[in-house]
Amino acid sequence: MESKEYPGKLTPFVGLTCLVAATSGLIVGYDIGISGGVTSMDPFLKKFFPSVYRKEKQNQNSNQYCTFDSQILTTFTSSLYLAALVASFFASSVTRLFGRKWSMFAGGVSFLVGAPLNGAAQDVFMLIFGRILLGIGVGFIVQSVPLYLSEMAPAKLRGMLNITCQLMITIGILSANLINYGISKIEAGWGWRLSLADLAVVPASVITIGSLFLPDTPNSLIEHGHDEKAKEILRKIRGTHEILEEYSDLVAAGQESKKTRHPWINIMKRKYRPHLTMAILIPFFQQLTGINVIMFYAPVLFKTLGFGNNTSLMSAVIIGLVNVCATFVSIGTVDRLGRRPLFLQGGFQMLACQIILGTLIAIKFGTTGEGTIPRTYAAFMVLFICIYVAGFAWSWGPLGGTLVPSEIFPLEIRSAGQSINVSVNMLFTFVVAQTFLPMLCHFKFGLFYFFAGWVLVMTIFIALFLPETKNVPIEKMILVWKAHWFWNNFVSDKNEHVSTKEMATI
Ligand code: BGC
Repeated sequence: MESKEYPGKLTPFVGLTCLVAATSGLIVGYDIGISGGVTSMDPFLKKFFPSVYRKEKQNQNSNQYCTFDSQILTTFTSSLYLAALVASFFASSVTRLFGRKWSMFAGGVSFLVGAPLNGAAQDVFMLIFGRILLGIGVGFIVQSVPLYLSEMAPAKLRGMLNITCQLMITIGILSANLINYGISKIEAGWGWRLSLADLAVVPASVITIGSLFLPDTPNSLIEHGHDEKAKEILRKIRGTHEILEEYSDLVAAGQESKKTRHPWINIMKRKYRPHLTMAILIPFFQQLTGINVIMFYAPVLFKTLGFGNNTSLMSAVIIGLVNVCATFVSIGTVDRLGRRPLFLQGGFQMLACQIILGTLIAIKFGTTGEGTIPRTYAAFMVLFICIYVAGFAWSWGPLGGTLVPSEIFPLEIRSAGQSINVSVNMLFTFVVAQTFLPMLCHFKFGLFYFFAGWVLVMTIFIALFLPETKNVPIEKMILVWKAHWFWNNFVSDKNEHVSTKEMATI
């Protein structure tokens, strides 16, 4: 099956849009990685969460599982994702009504105000207020940037750009881990202020100022009736005057999607059942891999297991590095091996590691949570966490985060599909962040088996229900559902005319 190719090349203009996407991915990742580190720093705990600090100090020999079980401590981490969830609903209207760039601008401004507020926090409310502003920024960014990118990018680079975004998130997480490690060495005890405010301000300024200079996408301009401007931008971003074919396709697609007045009602139709199912289940499952337990709480988890301050933060750096490197594996293989093999292999790898980790913890801490972990034993645990993270980073990370959800929706339900994907992701990121520490206290080592159970379920789900989408042009995606043993019950021939020859090619 041949994908349609319009004339044009990768222009510096499109390069600039990648830069904006890259910097926004960095901030989203930075926010994911930073909180676990600061919440494991004594001066930070002493200032904002003195009761957790006292418990940590007194608790040397008693139940380790519950040391960090504090509602207010988890609220510090999770408030960001609740704010992001709420903001993403507003962001979808701003993105549609005013254009993509204004959502990016709004996201940048929220980051610019939130980060220094966090760094200057005098009490826990100021701290959480800053986190909420950062969350609003995340909500606007994750809603608008992927859309902006896929509308600006030449079709043949869309997939690569997509995973680049995830790569930037992982680099953001690693930067946060490194900064936490470096800053924890500042004797005076104010290092966490730098962690919270520092790096975030630089990319936040790039997005805020950058978005003012970036043009809106041709699609968005056409949607708002600025046809001449749309043509001009298209010429500029494709670096050619031969844009008429792409332009008329964009106009046609715009008219088609205008006819769909209510994408939200539309996506409920029976023929979109496979899309709706994926829009909900893929981000849900992605969070139920338990990845953010590691991304948010690795240093806290390691301290729970009896690691020292330094070792905890160092282990988080190693894990962050594995996360980045393994994402490259995905970039290099996803279009050759396909999505399903990566999902299935990654799933089995995560499953095995979680069972091993749960068992290793059970052996040392049992159900009482009392005990200590020898050095070599601890090193083994870090090793299995790394293998687990690698499995995630070449499967559910990039594929579940953006790639698969962004390539399976037809235009008429794309905005609704993307909104559902983002909100479900944020909702369950919040739920995992909010419940992990109390769950660790109650489920103990069983928590690792709990996530293993979910990984088993999602791997079976992929095996049975996710068709392979490798190398299938977006506009031909319907064929994939039609050829599927289960989804062909929903997507019937009445919905789209497809020749038998085309069916035979997939
Ligand atoms: C997920 C995040 C996660 C990150 C880890 C993303 O795809 O949506 O929740 O923290 O991957 O690299």
